[in-house]
Amino acid sequence: MASMSVDSLALGRTSPAGALTPVHDAAKAHGWWRSAVIYQIYPRSFRDLNGDGVGDLAGITRELPELAKLGVDAIWLSPFYRSPQRDAGYDVSDYCQVDPLFGSLADFDAMLAEANRLNLRVIADLVPNHCSSDHVAFQAALAAAPGGPERDMFIFRDGRGPEGAEPPNNWQSHFGGPAWTRITEPGGRPGQWYLHLFDSSQPDFNWDNPEVHAEFERVLRFWLDRGISGFRVDVAHALVKAPGLPDWGGRADGNSAPGFPGREAPMFGQAALHDVYRRWREILEEYGPGRILCAEANVDPLPRLAKWVMPDQMHQAFNFPFLHAGLDLPKLRAVITDSLTALDAVGAPSTWVLSNHDVVRHASRFGYDGPGPRDGDGISPLDPQPDAELGRRRAAAATLFMLGLPGGAYLYQGEELGLPDGVDIPAGLRADPTFTRTCGERIGRDGCRVPLPWRAAEPNSGFGSGTGPWLPQPDCWPELARDAQEADPASHLTLYRNALALRRKHALGQGSLAWAEDYCTGSSLAYLNGDTLVILNLGSGPLELPAGDVLLRTSGAIGTDPLGSGEAIWLAIG
Ligand code: GLC
Repeated sequence: MASMSVDSLALGRTSPAGALTPVHDAAKAHGWWRSAVIYQIYPRSFRDLNGDGVGDLAGITRELPELAKLGVDAIWLSPFYRSPQRDAGYDVSDYCQVDPLFGSLADFDAMLAEANRLNLRVIADLVPNHCSSDHVAFQAALAAAPGGPERDMFIFRDGRGPEGAEPPNNWQSHFGGPAWTRITEPGGRPGQWYLHLFDSSQPDFNWDNPEVHAEFERVLRFWLDRGISGFRVDVAHALVKAPGLPDWGGRADGNSAPGFPGREAPMFGQAALHDVYRRWREILEEYGPGRILCAEANVDPLPRLAKWVMPDQMHQAFNFPFLHAGLDLPKLRAVITDSLTALDAVGAPSTWVLSNHDVVRHASRFGYDGPGPRDGDGISPLDPQPDAELGRRRAAAATLFMLGLPGGAYLYQGEELGLPDGVDIPAGLRADPTFTRTCGERIGRDGCRVPLPWRAAEPNSGFGSGTGPWLPQPDCWPELARDAQEADPASHLTLYRNALALRRKHALGQGSLAWAEDYCTGSSLAYLNGDTLVILNLGSGPLELPAGDVLLRTSGAIGTDPLGSGEAIWLAIG
């Protein structure tokens, strides 16, 4: 029999919400992370307490009560380790030290203690695919002879062609340009090449070498011993490369392209990776329950992603297909159905996400009617600009739609304020290597990394006094500052707080999902989670609502007045 989706099998159940198509039952399994809302902190842009223009750990400690008030369960911190900051800390030169830019280990411990006091768990960012070229192991590899154990920590190869002057294969860097750089051997002659899937300052480790495994097990234990609740694992799908490093004509980011399905990319999703994560899971479990691994794994299709979150491997994997579906309602419905179906088959929750430090903020992405910016490419001042009001309205609706879904969710700092991307950033201040490696052709990810506005009346909107922030803040920052939204019942911040409180109260994260067909009209999408009906209306006209108690809606409209265009609602029915 041809395989049928849950959608096509289980038609016709009815409820006060009309015809239902069930997809997912309420969760029976336990684990805080299965329904948690985790808030991503990008330390350099969160809060600057020492006034040097860059955020720091002490700044995070200072503002943690605000995150507890927001109602999140945990925070994930992007890298704060020692690093020359050529890729904003994703180029680590010492995995067990805090970069002086952000503070010290004592500052980290103080931050963790304050988080514990506020019942917030802390997740660190582990960067195992590559380190910084300043890392002592890479410096030793450069100083050593070819073929020795120092070089074997990384992926060094002789070049192709006469004099080995061509790169060993045709792989491209995610940030543009070739993924290989040639070194000068200690004797002064042009020598071997090393692989870097990202910037040339980020050499890839050789995960065929047991020494690399041992080193990362030490790093895991170092941070677990300090008391963290787990790790978000950076480019978790890239560590192991296919034997022989064959050429690849597909996309550098591993996504499928015509003729080049992502599953065949020789640098992504290799089977041996799963053994690495099984071992890490064992290590986490030595520290007791509740420690988690979350994969940043760009693998498609969804059933393949589900393999990452089998019970003996990772706990979570970001649902990037959901992020990429944007506001395309048929796509969104298919991704949600397919995600819940594929993940249910392995007993894992879905991990929803709309924004992070690598993509244009969803308040800007949704401000376009036509195609918006390509992922990771940012918005240049010369590009068509998003409609700020439309973007913010739809972002609120999309967030409410996401937070009603069963599973876990990640929020990116500043989305609770409805922040757009920063656009007017002078070339000289742009820090993303994508910008420099493509000679400005791709503007890069700086726009979503602009330092946060905390207090409207303070210098730099309260990000920090002293030196101006490392990226300029847009003119609208004071009016979007946290304190300006604090007491406003119609603000974005109030909506997020209410949504998180109600999500907890109604246990939506542990809940079920059935499509509410009467409200899936082509320009609207609706599902029932327990007794909560969630509707997103993107049509140009209003949508009539069934009887029910309004829990929350994204506009100031009263009661069950029809749902306006670009609006979402949570309605208790039943
Ligand atoms: C991940 C990070 C991104 C970084 C890259 C290289 O995709 O999220 O910010 O540039 O890995 O570490």
